[in-house]
Amino acid sequence: MIITGKYPNLRLRRNRKSDWSRRLVQENNLSVNDLILPIFLIDGKNKKESIKSMPDIFRYSIDNIPLLVDKAVKYKIPMIALFPYTDNKLKNNIGLEALNENNLVCKAIRLIKKKYKNKIGIMCDVALDPYTSHGHDGILKKGKILNDETIEILIKQSLLQAEMGCDVIAPSDMMDGRIGKIRKALDKNKFQDVQILSYAAKYASSFYGPFRDAVGSNKSLKGDKKTYQMDYNNNFEALREISLDIKEGADMVMVKPGMPYLDIIKSIKENFKIPVFAYQVSGEYSLIKNAINKKIISENSIIETLTAFKRAGASAIVTYFADKVAKSLKK
Ligand code: PBG
Repeated sequence: MIITGKYPNLRLRRNRKSDWSRRLVQENNLSVNDLILPIFLIDGKNKKESIKSMPDIFRYSIDNIPLLVDKAVKYKIPMIALFPYTDNKLKNNIGLEALNENNLVCKAIRLIKKKYKNKIGIMCDVALDPYTSHGHDGILKKGKILNDETIEILIKQSLLQAEMGCDVIAPSDMMDGRIGKIRKALDKNKFQDVQILSYAAKYASSFYGPFRDAVGSNKSLKGDKKTYQMDYNNNFEALREISLDIKEGADMVMVKPGMPYLDIIKSIKENFKIPVFAYQVSGEYSLIKNAINKKIISENSIIETLTAFKRAGASAIVTYFADKVAKSLKK
């Protein structure tokens, strides 16, 4: 890098002297186009249920989805992500409820597509954890998560979601080889326009705690997810995961969690030049939100964190702050 000049001729503070000047030299800008809004679903009628570990975040019954999606469409948030809280009675060892065309996610996709047409994109997780009695993302047998057997169900789950009208299939299960197999199955069934956002670099993280409370998988989860989600000690392994998923047909890739993994976002962007998404996960949300509520940090911290993702190279960010941030960006 060439630095022309030096103090006292060169004073970097000159460009920062007023608001208009700072705006002129800005390198990154957070906009509503960068935001993806997660929505938690629950069975029942007229429900808007609070979630103990996520202040200000709710589970919505299908009829109440418009409470949130109306706003998302009005603020022009490009995409929402759907996550179901499944009744324990509907859970079993292989997560069969994932393949029920009347499960919460399927019902929600149908309603949203009917009501909002193509005004907003819908992304759905492909993984079995909301539906398994043991809380794992795949089939559990003799203490092991079965890879290839799990993929067979994930393929069916993907096809079902695509058939319902899901725009972006987002496998978050971390099984080996699932992107290629899902892409092939989608293409074979005339869903060649359905996009795949691969949770390619997903780390086994403590920061998912509140999410597991939100979808009701925390109490049932046996053990941890370290045999399929990545080890947070590793960096280059993320590049291997990403390159495989790109070869297998991923249109976009996700890094998850977010803030503690900005280095991973940056190195993926530098190495692959493909759309990289970040997930500011539930634990990050609750940390920030609790600190704001206790007046330890100011509301501005939210935009600061989201801008950090842009700086690192993220194209978009899944964040539980999306609706509030979109509203404030509009002003
Ligand atoms: C499930 C899934 C998880 C999250 C998104 N999809 C949790 C997990 O892997 O245990 C976490 C999201 C969050 O913490 O906000 N495959």
